[in-house]
Amino acid sequence: MKSLKAIILAGGPGTRLRPLTCTRPKLLMPIANRALLDWTFERLSWAGVSEVVLAVNYMAESLRRYFGRERYGIKVKYSLEPKAMGTGGPIKLSQKLIKLEEDETLLIMNGDIWCDLEFSVLEAAHKRNVGRGAVTTITLYEVKDVSRFGVVELKPDGRIAAFHEKPSGKVKSRLINAGIYASTSQIFSYIEPRRTSMELEVFPRLASENRLYGFQHKGEWGDVGKFEDYLKVNFKVAEALAGEKPRIEGSAEYNSTVKLVPPVILGDGVRLGSGSRIGPNAILGRNVKVGENCQISNSVVFDGVEMEDGCLVKGSILGEEVFVGREAKITGGSVVGDLSIIAPKVKISRKVYVCPRKEVNKPALGPKRIV
Ligand code: GTP
Repeated sequence: MKSLKAIILAGGPGTRLRPLTCTRPKLLMPIANRALLDWTFERLSWAGVSEVVLAVNYMAESLRRYFGRERYGIKVKYSLEPKAMGTGGPIKLSQKLIKLEEDETLLIMNGDIWCDLEFSVLEAAHKRNVGRGAVTTITLYEVKDVSRFGVVELKPDGRIAAFHEKPSGKVKSRLINAGIYASTSQIFSYIEPRRTSMELEVFPRLASENRLYGFQHKGEWGDVGKFEDYLKVNFKVAEALAGEKPRIEGSAEYNSTVKLVPPVILGDGVRLGSGSRIGPNAILGRNVKVGENCQISNSVVFDGVEMEDGCLVKGSILGEEVFVGREAKITGGSVVGDLSIIAPKVKISRKVYVCPRKEVNKPALGPKRIV
């Protein structure tokens, strides 16, 4: 089998996921207890990808340390841009690290996507389009609300007739740019070696030359841009992995008074106190310790969190090694940064975002940031 190469945009600051991205790049955020980018690497390896360039910028060192020179049998290279260069500039800069034969396919993608696309199927579709003059084939996904995305108008033969980035008015299509492309090496000649936008400059030009095609993905897809998306993707994956039975990764300690309501994922070394109710939609990381009579639902709890008795966590995210005091309540889309402490009986609710290493001693009703 011929090998494939890929460029992954991995350098964004992930501002919408702060405070969790204050201490990790977005691509290392856990999805069902596994880094987001690990899911992608695994799928790339299944498609026979032999080499990936990570286009890095924000927290580049963390990514370099985590992925090293090889992951899932894929050689990993890093292209560090001197300053932010939009979505196109980093791709152009990565060109020098990638050697492509004329007929070889290059995969290019945003790193903050979770999906079950088979990259080899995209490659095959792209190869057919190349025969008809395509430079790039964009993966498309159908959504109800297109306003946050790049919307694509497709011709019956699969060519993209028009590309509207984040449209404010009415558009006829519900197919959006899913952030994953297959391309020939000609793509590099369409990108300027400066700050360039693929969505606003490169794709409209390719479309006007009839060299941009679409490929619709009909499986699962989600971009991890905002906390709502992050939770949604986690719950989707939990449902797929765990289904009706709790998924226990390694060993977990709890007795028969604990109620696990699926989907539930318990990381290795989790300990749950008597009378606690976990789920639905609860993902607990490694070595999470939960006291007695706690309730956790619709939430993601990162590794090493500790919770005393009688706590409630609902629709929220707790970062690594957060400590939650007795009978505290964290609800309504709140997010607690790594190593923070929520004092006993404190209630935080409605999108309260707590920065890393903070101590919260008073109740807080959001939306607000505790910095
Ligand atoms: P926000 O700050 O919350 O908008 O997030 P972001 O900028 O990290 O992500 P965005 O959704 O805008 O970007 C989509 C993908 O492109 C993500 O995988 C980012 O890591 C990546 N990305 C965004 N900006 C840059 C950049 O300047 N350089 C590189 N190399 N990657 C980028």
